[in-house]
Amino acid sequence: MRFSVIATVSTLATGAFSWSPPWYRGSTCLDYDHAQHVANNFKGTIDAYTTTLANKIFTSDFHDYSDSVIELINGGCPSGPKTLGQPTFSSLADFEAGQGSQPNITFNILNLWYNCDTVFMRWEGPQPNPYSTAAQEPVRGIIVLETVTSKKLKSEPYLIKTVYSEFNSGAWLYDLGVFVPTNCTAASRKRDSKLARRTPVEINA
Ligand SMILES: *[C@@H]1O[C@H](CO)[C@@H](O)[C@H](O)[C@H]1NC(C)=O
Ligand SMILES: *[C@@H]1O[C@H](CO)[C@@H](O)[C@H](O)[C@H]1NC(C)=O
Repeated sequence: MRFSVIATVSTLATGAFSWSPPWYRGSTCLDYDHAQHVANNFKGTIDAYTTTLANKIFTSDFHDYSDSVIELINGGCPSGPKTLGQPTFSSLADFEAGQGSQPNITFNILNLWYNCDTVFMRWEGPQPNPYSTAAQEPVRGIIVLETVTSKKLKSEPYLIKTVYSEFNSGAWLYDLGVFVPTNCTAASRKRDSKLARRTPVEINA
């Protein structure tokens, strides 16, 4: 009898039910389905942005950190307008003002990992880049999504509170035509390999 109860419970738990067994209700840790849902939620704000979606899936004190995005906003200029290391968006309203005015950009999730409250994903950007019709370099990046649990909406038990997102903005700037490489010849590539062996400080000097 006891066995059959456990068997029934585990059948329900693995089926397409949102019901969870009583001993599980206290758990606030992400599982794979929740992690995938959180990842797709964030993806939606980039490739199918609506304010309704953003309001539903982010906390109101949401912060987004991305030096890669700041580099794009600044067009590679050290003078700003945004400051590297500072939040790219420091509230939901800030994100909505910034992201809401961008075209949707498709991308594929290449990898997905998660722990109790954080989702990690690796992505590959659009080909062609919608901002450019010139020859394209593919863009790949990594996103870390920190979540908090919420009881506001049953469909959204995990809201995204902080985003850390970095990607190959050099390739993006190339695709935009902002960064125009010179000396893309075999001879200069040899020269570049010497550069690569120097420390970043020497390269910047
Ligand atoms: C982005 O996609 C959403 C959902 O399909 C759509 O409502 C919105 O108008 C699109 N935004 C732009 C700028 O095209
Ligand atoms: C390109 O390579 C040539 C020959 O090595 C060099 O004289 C020139 O300064 C290089 N240009 C840039 C922008 O690095």
